[in-house]
Amino acid sequence: MKDNNFIKENNAKHMWHPMGHPADSLANPPTVIASAKDSSITDIDGHTVVDAVGGLWCVNLGYSNDTVKEAISKQLYDLPYYSAFSGTTNPAAIEASQMVRDMFAPDGMARVFFTSGGSDSVETCLRLARQYHVVRGEPSRTKFISLKKGYHGTHFGGASVNGNNRFRINYEPLLPGCYHLPAPYTYRNPFNETDPAKLAQNIAAAFEDEIAFQGANTIAAFIMEPIQGAGGVIVPDASFMGLMRDICDRHGILMISDEVITGFGRTGDWSGARHWGVKPDMMSMAKGITSGYFPVGAALIGDKVAEVFENDTSGNAAIFHGYTYSAHPVGAAAVIATINETLRLDTKVNAAARGAQLFEGVQKLAQKYDIIGNVRGGHGLMTGIELVSDAAKKTPMDMSVMKRIHKAAYDNGAMVRLGANNILMSPPLVITDTEISQILSALDAGFASA
Ligand SMILES: Cc1ncc(COP(=O)(O)O)c(C=O)c1O
Repeated sequence: MKDNNFIKENNAKHMWHPMGHPADSLANPPTVIASAKDSSITDIDGHTVVDAVGGLWCVNLGYSNDTVKEAISKQLYDLPYYSAFSGTTNPAAIEASQMVRDMFAPDGMARVFFTSGGSDSVETCLRLARQYHVVRGEPSRTKFISLKKGYHGTHFGGASVNGNNRFRINYEPLLPGCYHLPAPYTYRNPFNETDPAKLAQNIAAAFEDEIAFQGANTIAAFIMEPIQGAGGVIVPDASFMGLMRDICDRHGILMISDEVITGFGRTGDWSGARHWGVKPDMMSMAKGITSGYFPVGAALIGDKVAEVFENDTSGNAAIFHGYTYSAHPVGAAAVIATINETLRLDTKVNAAARGAQLFEGVQKLAQKYDIIGNVRGGHGLMTGIELVSDAAKKTPMDMSVMKRIHKAAYDNGAMVRLGANNILMSPPLVITDTEISQILSALDAGFASA
């Protein structure tokens, strides 16, 4: 590796960064994170902070899990790569698929299709949903319904069901036949409804109305995150996902639960759907499946969908979809070790306890600072803070102030993430109570600087 002078001099000069303006990266080079330990990261200048972002909602086991690192390293020597396209496979992928299936069998999942990340997993679910209807003889079902504020990755299909316009408008036209319902977002919604249960009813009614308008026999699937992550940690009423499930069932629409963030314990349960007591038809997974140590995702296929594909006699059920790195042996070794560690540490329990501590701590900060318009979370380690410059008018806080708060929090001991006028937090599930306290005091310093 070149020395620090070289790294600093070349930072952002040759690389375009995801989710940022290339000119901005050149003018304000990104922080270089050089090493990490447990739940903390250290930058190139030696400044160490608690990582309240968990990498990117993904480093669930923290940065120091040697079991996963050793499993990856060993697999690299045994078999660094082989294709899983029809005709060949590898031992690690077979074992990993059984473990993932077993972990999500209580959610009704029967089969696993490995991918390289969350966007791939969403794309796989969307495509298999359409194909499911073709195989069962109702090819008119091609449309998708989703929620505003939802984030489903950046492939064209995922962007088309995405509910945040900054991920869409410069890439239009997107996939035809995708329609969006209001988000379960009590702070701002078109019904002016602050009661979460009533808002859930309103959105359910809008879903029924949209189905009646489109025609149920044109809709393939409804996709939602059990708790919306990138859109600002939007927690629905406990009734919401069940209401949407019932409507899907009544109209023959598949339900895809996008669990890229919520899967593997982040909500305090192994899946977000289980957290709400719902069994979806498919699940998209990534992130916590390897704790971010290797890029892996998975589309999980429920019993009903699996049966249609596996009992097909028409020939339409052949899956002409997949990735060079689907069921990658090194990724699969990472999955096996990560699941073993996740279960051994029972990370969902700490996620629930530390999540409550973080949420309550931020609620206390909200009493101190008027700029905190809305605090969302309380269901595991996902916390969102929406900042406003005028509390009565709910005016979104300027980006320049958001950046100042971010920097002050970083200088005072915590890396947090900005998503528009929200501060988003999703630390490792193994984080300690002392580290949560450090995040809270760093935020306090951040808000004081606003
Ligand atoms: C709910 C959800 N779905 C899909 C994705 C896309 O995943 P990836 O960035 O791995 O492609 C994300 C990423 O954050 C996500 O939060």
